[in-house]
Amino acid sequence: MSKFFALIPAAGSGSRMGNQLPKQYLSLADRPMIYHALKTLSQSPKITRVFIILSPDDIDWNNYDWSAFSEKLSIIKCGGATRAESVLNGLSAAKEESMVDANDWILVHDAARPCLSSTQLSKLIDSVANDKVGGLLATPVADTLKRGDDKSRITKTEPRENLWQAQTPQMFRYGLLTEALANTTEITDDASAVEALGLQPKLIQSDATNFKVTYPQDLALAELILKQRNAQ
Ligand code: C5P
Repeated sequence: MSKFFALIPAAGSGSRMGNQLPKQYLSLADRPMIYHALKTLSQSPKITRVFIILSPDDIDWNNYDWSAFSEKLSIIKCGGATRAESVLNGLSAAKEESMVDANDWILVHDAARPCLSSTQLSKLIDSVANDKVGGLLATPVADTLKRGDDKSRITKTEPRENLWQAQTPQMFRYGLLTEALANTTEITDDASAVEALGLQPKLIQSDATNFKVTYPQDLALAELILKQRNAQ
């Protein structure tokens, strides 16, 4: 039986937020941002362990209380210069630390997607667990897409048929994901690395609540979603 592990790359600086404190630690619904996704992932009975990949220079992690997750949590300070490098370093360190098999599933989730729900997580796991390639949460593009030039003038309207916005978690077998990431450099998600091997990851329909907090104004929306969910 394959096991399920979660891996959260959290070694970025989050420069687009314009804040000194790295994005994953910004206060959101009375907790550091990363707390919320960590809670959802570690509460899943299917997930054996959650690896958090921090920057070797991280000085903030120890300022917070993580004791609620201590049973499943592994902190590894091996982040790299890019997200892909952080994930690849994390995969190798995770294997050294735990009994991770090449066929086990790794769910890579961005620290900056705090609103992942347990329903979305279960849907991904149940839909992909028997897949040969792996898959990811994503939403079909709803808006009309414009390509602009460097003066913000439209050069083209792009057809949106069959276009999806990729989210995380992205779920691949340990062996395949390691091979894929070792073979690519210029990528912004794990699925792209797998696609570069000529494979077609499965798109699992999610919704807009699992969005990535990128700009300061995103914090208020994330807080609204989390507070409403916690009140239910
Ligand atoms: O910057 P962005 O929002 O695209 O980062 C996505 C995720 O990748 C975040 O969780 C961030 O902490 C992580 N990351 C990382 N190592 C880097 C850059 C980003 O772990 N060098």
